[in-house]
Amino acid sequence: MRELVYYVAVSLDGYIAGPDGQFDALLSEGDHMAAINERFGDTVPTDIADALGVSRDGGMFDTVLMGWNTYAVGLPFGVTSPYRHLRQIVFSRSHEAAGENLEVTASDPVETVRALKEQDGGAIWLCGGGELAAAIADEIDRLVLKRNPLLFGTGIPLFGRRPYAPRRFSEVGTTAFGSGVVLSEYVRMGA
Ligand SMILES: NC(=O)c1ccc[n+]([C@@H]2O[C@H](COP(=O)([O-])OP(=O)(O)OC[C@H]3O[C@@H](n4cnc5c(N)ncnc54)[C@H](OP(=O)(O)O)[C@@H]3O)[C@@H](O)[C@H]2O)c1
Repeated sequence: MRELVYYVAVSLDGYIAGPDGQFDALLSEGDHMAAINERFGDTVPTDIADALGVSRDGGMFDTVLMGWNTYAVGLPFGVTSPYRHLRQIVFSRSHEAAGENLEVTASDPVETVRALKEQDGGAIWLCGGGELAAAIADEIDRLVLKRNPLLFGTGIPLFGRRPYAPRRFSEVGTTAFGSGVVLSEYVRMGA
């Protein structure tokens, strides 16, 4: 069955962005970049990958899920279809948008993910953000965290508010880079 993979950059104190969506403190240079792009080249925005020559060969994903706030990050810059090399599904109960290979849906994300998993295809990338991740946390099969060596203090958490419900994951690989970024990969136990 297709896996749902939450692949995301996170601060040491568990934030994926600052309180106003700031992400410029996350490390975009260093020895982790080439290594991570080699394996996860299909998570680089289409235009950026094309400009930098990042290869999508051998990519694991064919679909990406975004909450509206994550999708909306590109809108002020005219980016309406950030990952158009993938099937993009944006969750929103109140917005509409049009873009190449992009659909906006008010459907229940859990039901959507379960239906996608029944279909043939590659892995499903949960891009974010924290609110959508909280809604579909129990559907996540694999977590790939790019832990950045910094504290945010406050911001948008890796997962939005959820009831107390511990879920075990087992660590399947960790690579520490000279830049201080640590890439850790976990699979849901029993998955
Ligand atoms: N560090 C990283 O790698 C990374 C990756 C991705 C995102 N981010 C950051 O994360 C931030 C956004 O995260 P966020 O937690 O604020 O928001 P989010 O999860 O991206 O989006 C939340 C919105 O998605 C829609 N949504 C969420 N749950 C839904 C549900 N169950 N059903 C239908 N629609 C639902 C709602 O939109 P409506 O209000 O329109 O209904 C909700 O307001 C951005 O600043 C972005 O830069 C960081």
